[in-house]
Amino acid sequence: MKITVVGTGYVGLVTGTCFAETGNDVTCVDIDAAKVSKLSGGQITIYEPGLEKLFERNLKENRLQFTTDLAAGVKDAEVIFLALPTPPGEDGSADLSYILKVAEQLGNIITDYKVIVDKSTVPVGTAEKVQATIAKNCKCEFDVVSNPEFLREGVAVDDFMKPDRVVIGTRSERARKVMGDLFGPFVRQGNPILFMDEKSAELTKYAANSFLATKISFMNEIAILCEKLGADVDMVRRGVGSDDRIGKRFLFPGIGYGGSCFPKDVQALVKSSEDADYDFRILNAVMDVNEKQKLFLLPKINAFFNNDLKGKHFALWGLAFKPNTDDIREAPALYIIDALVAAGATVTVHDPEAMENVKRLLGDKVSYASHQYDCLNDADALVIATEWSVFRTPDFEKIKATLKNPLIFDGRNLFDVARMQELGFHYESVGRAA
Ligand code: UGA
Repeated sequence: MKITVVGTGYVGLVTGTCFAETGNDVTCVDIDAAKVSKLSGGQITIYEPGLEKLFERNLKENRLQFTTDLAAGVKDAEVIFLALPTPPGEDGSADLSYILKVAEQLGNIITDYKVIVDKSTVPVGTAEKVQATIAKNCKCEFDVVSNPEFLREGVAVDDFMKPDRVVIGTRSERARKVMGDLFGPFVRQGNPILFMDEKSAELTKYAANSFLATKISFMNEIAILCEKLGADVDMVRRGVGSDDRIGKRFLFPGIGYGGSCFPKDVQALVKSSEDADYDFRILNAVMDVNEKQKLFLLPKINAFFNNDLKGKHFALWGLAFKPNTDDIREAPALYIIDALVAAGATVTVHDPEAMENVKRLLGDKVSYASHQYDCLNDADALVIATEWSVFRTPDFEKIKATLKNPLIFDGRNLFDVARMQELGFHYESVGRAA
């Protein structure tokens, strides 16, 4: 099938590459000429495990092309995916200007039937708006479909190739057939393609992300309670998660959820609810808990140093909002750094992938260590903010020998509490005995 993907950000590039990998002929369009030239030249612009190999292969075999020319890019396409940014506006609602601008252009450009697919996370009613915007000038038939993506950064290729489900929102039989044919190869193991109306598809995406965020905030509050009552959140998590109705996944307490999706989507759903004259109380609490959770370790650090962090030096491992990505958007580490520096401390940071992004954002506000152990030099304590695998089984003797004090504040519960005691560490984590 001939496919065009408009927008070569994270979702667009993964979508385009994975469709090319399954034999489709894919053209990706972006207004950023520098990016298009890099991509055309074989240089991938995002970090995502497993993507580069597929990208290189499909580029070489001419199944994947890049252009800045929207008209040429969509000319032969049967399906046009819109994978454009929807950043939060000042009031938390999603900004649709990028999508509607492209919709307007498409209305002037297309001359034969196309299926136009909203891939971005967009508020309920967007498909209708896109439909109306294209229709203003369009002289041919077309359908607008909502097809939210459920990719997780770090495992996006796998999520795309083997989705739990594909949600397709359309009431058009013609578009349903095209989308069914396109996604058929991805659900051969029997996972469902769920056809529904456009609005239900749009809401499904927000509901899924908000529910997962709710699970996390709920467990973060249980962790707080565990500490107050002397229980162990690891035990409670296992006990609770073994109930199939609840499930084991997304119950890990920590220092809050970050990234470009959960914070933005929960906020946008709260805003949509307000606009519909409904106060979504649970989600307001989810956001509130998460804001506080990002600084969960601070009172522990302050208590240890008698509320005096002036002149203290901290090593911080993990900057990305989660492992296997260089994405630092809404990363809890950034909030911890801010609080430590504001209290007069200095910080040296290390992350396997996200250092360049942090350098661009923070400059010389912190020092940077290219190796995780160099990061520990002269530090009064180690703070862990992201659960990268390389941090899971470190050389504890080396850590002890390098840090000024055998002191670890772990926001991701990487180590066994009893073992840390045996090794002679003062070890504090989330929802477990110190
Ligand atoms: C999330 C969803 O999981 C995807 O299904 C969705 O497609 C995507 O948003 C999106 O809307 O584009 P992502 O933001 O890449 O994916 O990351 P997750 O793996 O979901 O993690 C989100 C945050 O929750 C991270 O900060 C992570 O540390 C935190 N988390 C996750 C916890 O604190 N505890 C857990 O048990 C799980």
